[in-house]
Amino acid sequence: MKSVTIGGVTIKGNVALSPMAGVSHVAYRGICREKGASYAPTELVSARSIRYNGLEKSMQYLRIDPETEGVTAIQLFGSEPDDFTAAIDKIMEHPLLSKVDIIDINMGCPVPKVVKTGAGSALMNDPETAASIVRACKAALEGAPRHIPVTVKTRIGFDPGDSGRPDLARAVADAGCDMLCVHGRTRPQMYTGSCDRKAIALMKEAIRGYDIPFFANGDVTDGPSAASLIGETGADGVMIGRAARGNPWIFEEVSAFLEGRPAPNPPSERERKEMLIRELKGRCLYCEEEFAVREFRSVMPFYVKGIRGAAQLKVRLCSALTVNEIKEILEL
Ligand SMILES: Cc1cc2nc3c(=O)[nH]c(=O)nc-3n(C[C@H](O)[C@H](O)[C@H](O)COP(=O)(O)O)c2cc1C
Repeated sequence: MKSVTIGGVTIKGNVALSPMAGVSHVAYRGICREKGASYAPTELVSARSIRYNGLEKSMQYLRIDPETEGVTAIQLFGSEPDDFTAAIDKIMEHPLLSKVDIIDINMGCPVPKVVKTGAGSALMNDPETAASIVRACKAALEGAPRHIPVTVKTRIGFDPGDSGRPDLARAVADAGCDMLCVHGRTRPQMYTGSCDRKAIALMKEAIRGYDIPFFANGDVTDGPSAASLIGETGADGVMIGRAARGNPWIFEEVSAFLEGRPAPNPPSERERKEMLIRELKGRCLYCEEEFAVREFRSVMPFYVKGIRGAAQLKVRLCSALTVNEIKEILEL
């Protein structure tokens, strides 16, 4: 199995879960790891909110579980280097969160609320600030008892005409970023249109001399699409987003394909339903049952996608309020 070393932290394999708000719950990240994901960062968390409101308010998103996750990574977003410094200081003072292995910086979020503040994908248009943020994170982690690498996840551009931002890639690499992941879409594309692999390759090429790993991201749905993304971009690995929703088995499948092993059997209908319940119960460990069930409404449909009667099932699942009701609906 190929392994990748990110600033001294070695991950097994080269197929990671891409961070997704509402999806990348700690319960799900542990499941993905079990099913072969190399690692799985948290969803994006505001560095400014941590700075001014403390960790508790964001704990639902920040929580890590080194035991089930293996290598852990927290993704932060923001636009002010000082916010990152303050957020990391707080993280490093926390008994659980200080065990984190990697800090990832979001430089790709296209959501207007985030972009308006100069954060997320807006940083692609401001490589100087992007680099300052990386430097601030590195400096804040300098005193840590272990080396904690800083990684960056971004896109191929901010404007519709952009086809790669090698300037941004070089700026963050110069600033000491330990790994770069690039999603092959521009900000206005959000998650639509095709993924521009040439633009990803251009950014990979831009940091060739820096000796840091590079991950490609966008539209991986199976082994062949992962292999061709790696082949066409020269990436060291891939991150899988949407196709992994309600489908942790994708990591076994893609890893097997990349390593030339036979494809594992796809999960049965029952296994999928049982995994849905397992993730939901995992989510319930951290909050009120009804809250967990409501939050899980955006994910449940993916677990039953393609199952006979899925349309009806989805409607019923999304009106349930307890785990038992959901079990009944799924006839488990
Ligand atoms: C619902 C949803 C939430 C997302 N949240 C985040 C996030 O918190 N941080 C991040 O870096 N990217 C986020 N993304 C982007 C994904 O990580 C990924 O880059 C994108 O979906 C492209 O990969 P895919 O084609 O495999 O889905 C999100 C995407 C989706 C669909």
